[in-house]
Amino acid sequence: MPRKPFIAGNWKMNTTGRSAVELAATLARSIGSLDAVDLAVCPPFVYLPAVKAALAGSRIALGAQDVFHEDDGAFTGEVSTEMLKDVGCRYVIIGHSERRHVLGETDEMINRKIIKAMAAGLDMIFCVGELLEERKSGLTMDVVSRQVKIGLEGVAASDAGRLTIAYEPVWAIGTGVNATPEQAQEVHAMIRQLLAGRFTATVADRTRIQYGGSVKPSNAAELLRQEDVDGALVGGASLKAADFEAIARAAL
Ligand code: 13P
Repeated sequence: MPRKPFIAGNWKMNTTGRSAVELAATLARSIGSLDAVDLAVCPPFVYLPAVKAALAGSRIALGAQDVFHEDDGAFTGEVSTEMLKDVGCRYVIIGHSERRHVLGETDEMINRKIIKAMAAGLDMIFCVGELLEERKSGLTMDVVSRQVKIGLEGVAASDAGRLTIAYEPVWAIGTGVNATPEQAQEVHAMIRQLLAGRFTATVADRTRIQYGGSVKPSNAAELLRQEDVDGALVGGASLKAADFEAIARAAL
């Protein structure tokens, strides 16, 4: 793991205003001063300002779970990059599998969001990953490389420093069944190769690739030990302060 590890918590549609602030404040106290690992939490939109306040004085960054690809206007329910910056977000998750498979986002929509977030100066966690049927049919590499290629269309190498990729096999998300370290490493190495072809070897070498999908304190160290696994995007376990802390410390 030659790159600085990056552990992010995706709280998804969980927490209340009160529990979100409590969780953020607990993390700020327990791991808020770690500097050998980058940390971020991504609460629901409505709690971003309160969580930002609870993180004050810590090194834990704030991220959103999604963003829209237009600046403003008649887009009921959507949130813009400027709004996210306004409430103190550094990161935004783009292309999460639940956005793709539950909300119907396409590779093209995700690409527009990535372009918009790059232009706005937000750092992003761009998620890719195959379905179980796709893995069983031997299509993992095809699916992930299509997602990476279309997602990054039109992105300049000079903006690639804003990019983190999260490999999240859909069958591993929220199932308790994580990819084995070998399965994760194989796909991460392929993604890094794609980045070298799409940008440069230096960009590929610098870009962090997180693994996501049932990351827990019990499996984090082994996953993070893989050469091309540079961090984790954590769902369920990020809602428990002690578990998220243990995963963050496993990256040290
Ligand atoms: P789980 O850690 O709950 O499997 O979720 C992973 C995920 O989707 C993070 O974005």
